[in-house]
Amino acid sequence: MPKIVLLPGDGIGPDIVAEAVKVLGAVGEKYSISFTFETALIGGAAIDQTGCPLPPETLALCREADAILLGAVGGPAWDELPGNQRPEAGLLGIRKELGLYANLRPAKVFPALAASSPLKPELIGDIDLLVVRELTGDVYFGQPRGRECCNGECRAIDTMAYTESEVERISRLAFDLARKRRSLVTSVDKANVLESSRLWREVVRRVHADYPDVELREMYVDNCAMQLVNNPGQFDVILTSNLFGDILSDEAAMLTGSLGMLPSASLGGSVGLYEPVHGSAPDIAGKGIANPLATILSVALMLRYSFDLAEAAEAVETAVTQVLDAGYRTKDICRAGGELVSTAEMGDLVANTIRRGTI
Ligand code: IPM
Ligand code: MG
Repeated sequence: MPKIVLLPGDGIGPDIVAEAVKVLGAVGEKYSISFTFETALIGGAAIDQTGCPLPPETLALCREADAILLGAVGGPAWDELPGNQRPEAGLLGIRKELGLYANLRPAKVFPALAASSPLKPELIGDIDLLVVRELTGDVYFGQPRGRECCNGECRAIDTMAYTESEVERISRLAFDLARKRRSLVTSVDKANVLESSRLWREVVRRVHADYPDVELREMYVDNCAMQLVNNPGQFDVILTSNLFGDILSDEAAMLTGSLGMLPSASLGGSVGLYEPVHGSAPDIAGKGIANPLATILSVALMLRYSFDLAEAAEAVETAVTQVLDAGYRTKDICRAGGELVSTAEMGDLVANTIRRGTI
């Protein structure tokens, strides 16, 4: 009985995780698997109830789990707290504690949503890329970090740092994944300026020697940001560091029509964590208008990577495509002629489509 820990978190987190659970229920029925669920606190919700963004009980439960599904963390209520006590510290803490050094963010266009993309239709047809973001290093975790104040002026420090082994393991994973796709890795850095990027480049080239069948291209991050809007079809796997990956994956997500559609998988440790790329959107929490599809598509990634259930993963992805093709839309992706549905209705539509095999 696969044990899944649910970490709904803040804002729309609980709204969207509830829909993903419906979908797992449908998958369980169809493929005769009984998933068990336990819910734990993280982020602002955990701060409010326990004073800590990542309570030890949550971490202990996650270590015992077969997979983790997370909603989102953060919100204005906790914005004034010091950095290490903010909701985000819970998310960064769980990634680090569980050794989840690889964050996979696939971006693909659903034809039914092409009109929602800010790019011209002729540019988006061929978007099918995977951002492989390093997740436990870089300026997110580098030391020293902090603030020092002297003679009435403060100075704040973050440290961008990478070790060879950190770059090596994420590179290997990116090349391995590229082999299952179009065998092209674009490594993105800022090696014309940053020392850490120069080491990054060196190590990526070294690892590449073991993958002569995969093409390696190198690109500066500013150019990559531009190329993503200019010619996104040129990318297969984008391999990049924590900070650059954070930024580029939001950009890649929007190209596909809505930030509400992009799933992610965080891997590398003994248990995988799955979450939508988007944030907690506190302004629309509890209103029944959030888009649960990124979380539902994260369930597909969970089925594929943590449970090795490729067929079930495809069933979820196909159901999402069918529901979109039939015209159903949450508010963020609804345009003239679309059938506007609530968060819960969208979850029901996908779950029922999985059960029936057709909408
Ligand atoms: C993400 C988010 C997080 C990050 C925040 C919430 C800490 O933006 O997962 O992309 O920066 O990694
Ligand atoms: Mg982000």
